[in-house]
Amino acid sequence: MGDALPPQENGTRARYAPDEIILSEATKDDLTYLAEGYYASFDAEWHDEVEPPHLRPENWTSLRVQRLATRMTPWFSEPNVRIVKATLSPSSSSYDATAPNRIIGQAMWLLPSRTKTEIVNFWRRDASDILGWREKMGWTKEFEDELWSSVDLTKWQDAEFLPWDRAREEYLGGIGHWFLGPIWVLPEHQGRGLSSMLLKNASDLADKADPPEPLYLEAFPDARVVYLRHGYQPLDGVGKEFAMIRNPPESLKPLLQKPE
Ligand SMILES: CC(C)(COP(=O)(O)OP(=O)(O)OC[C@H]1O[C@@H](n2cnc3c(N)ncnc32)[C@H](O)[C@@H]1OP(=O)(O)O)[C@@H](O)C(=O)NCCC(=O)NCCS
Repeated sequence: MGDALPPQENGTRARYAPDEIILSEATKDDLTYLAEGYYASFDAEWHDEVEPPHLRPENWTSLRVQRLATRMTPWFSEPNVRIVKATLSPSSSSYDATAPNRIIGQAMWLLPSRTKTEIVNFWRRDASDILGWREKMGWTKEFEDELWSSVDLTKWQDAEFLPWDRAREEYLGGIGHWFLGPIWVLPEHQGRGLSSMLLKNASDLADKADPPEPLYLEAFPDARVVYLRHGYQPLDGVGKEFAMIRNPPESLKPLLQKPE
């Protein structure tokens, strides 16, 4: 994930002013932009690992967006999910009138009301089995297999999303928490404070809840610095290389820690 963060020292990217950015909840109409943004933002090293070239069909570049958008469709029918998109306001000098609804960054959260009783990252292939998406969507097993046919599940699920969920269970099983699914910002908009806006949008709500709620995420190595800036602390047990938590600030009602 070597290119996840833009260099800070180049100083060429001005931060977005709050009124240049519109944060709002994404809908099914946004699926294509959401899928395109995922492929554009995460680097080639990640895509090569989880969708290795030998599994890609010839027309993978066009198919991958369509397939991912379809795989994400059930997310929008699930309760207690918050998918926040960032788009540019017409007042911004970066606004592109030819693509006014283009999503330039997004953060997807599973909310405490669901994570209290369920630890299932929606990216997992088996989320469909656990949450009944195949039946709800009217998909056949064959159709679903095709949607996943270029993904190496030993890398995607067995090496990443399943162990990440097991670690989360260890730390937060039975405790409602905000859980960050994907967060990304399009490369040409990185380094301008967008992920800070997206993260603050969630932590403001978590801090205002009664009682205030913890937020948890799995950080790629290069993104760790971003989360540290936002009050997330690395955890020191299983999955310590990725697990990070932001407990409510000291000034708010302290969260009861789960005993070891
Ligand atoms: C990680 C990512 C979401 C960050 O988004 P971004 O909009 O570029 O981040 P921001 O500009 O809002 O920076 C966030 C904070 O980290 C700080 N920061 C960013 N890069 C930094 C760096 N290299 N060194 C030190 N601080 C840095 C910023 O100053 C900012 O803090 P501030 O608001 O207090 O000033 C973006 O790089 C991305 O989409 N990467 C690819 C996908 C990815 O890796 N997602 C995360 C998976 S865990």
